[in-house]
Amino acid sequence: MNDKYTEMAGRLIVALDYPDAEAASALVRELEGIPCYLKVGMQLYYAAGPAFVRELKSKGYSVFLDLKMHDIPNTVRGGAESITRLGVDMFNVHAAGGTAMMKAALDGAESALATDPGLSRPLIIAVTQLTSTSQETLNSEIGIQGSVQDAVVHYAKLTQSAGLDGVVASAQESALIREACGQQFITVTPGIRPAGSAAGDQARVLTPGEAIRQGSHYIVVGRPITAAENPREAAEHIIKEMIEA
Ligand code: C5P
Repeated sequence: MNDKYTEMAGRLIVALDYPDAEAASALVRELEGIPCYLKVGMQLYYAAGPAFVRELKSKGYSVFLDLKMHDIPNTVRGGAESITRLGVDMFNVHAAGGTAMMKAALDGAESALATDPGLSRPLIIAVTQLTSTSQETLNSEIGIQGSVQDAVVHYAKLTQSAGLDGVVASAQESALIREACGQQFITVTPGIRPAGSAAGDQARVLTPGEAIRQGSHYIVVGRPITAAENPREAAEHIIKEMIEA
């Protein structure tokens, strides 16, 4: 395993979108030895809870807890404190919750760190616009006028001014975000589809190689790996494409 392989595998976040711990564990076993990040989203977390997150951590994985908190600041502060105590490496909120809510997430994490010196500060990122949101949906349903790109850049700047570490957006917007917020501001990009795979409900998609070329720090991949006939091969193929990019 060379350095480039380890670096790129560490920038691949595999979405464990499964109904229970058993199904998720089966995929984790298939991917054993690949030093990728693992993402626990609401489907799995609501079923398997903190115990499953601790199990992944005990196996040495970096874990992104993708619960997309969006609530009043006091509630998000408490949520962030509990999540930080779990020892995850990354978690998120919705930027649409505003500055006070995002700062409350930071506060909550800091409170957990203050009580347990063994913890390290997770990356805290904000969702800009879901990668399933199209231009049409943004304007006619959500009620935000203007382009998706403008809305994403607005939320990215708001996230940065609140003191968070980065955003979730489509890789189609990574370059714009880097321009607006600088190279250090992290972009985590779902909506990744290797050439020839089905988009499903995702609207703003890019291939793994393109996403890396656009400057994404992390790419999130679910179904192109989890629904593949051979998930391990699919993951290795994606890492290879990332290295080549
Ligand atoms: O299966 P697929 O590759 O589309 O999975 C993408 C994953 O990224 C899902 O777990 C989804 O919840 C998550 N996600 C997303 N768009 C966002 C934030 C998270 O698709 N803006």
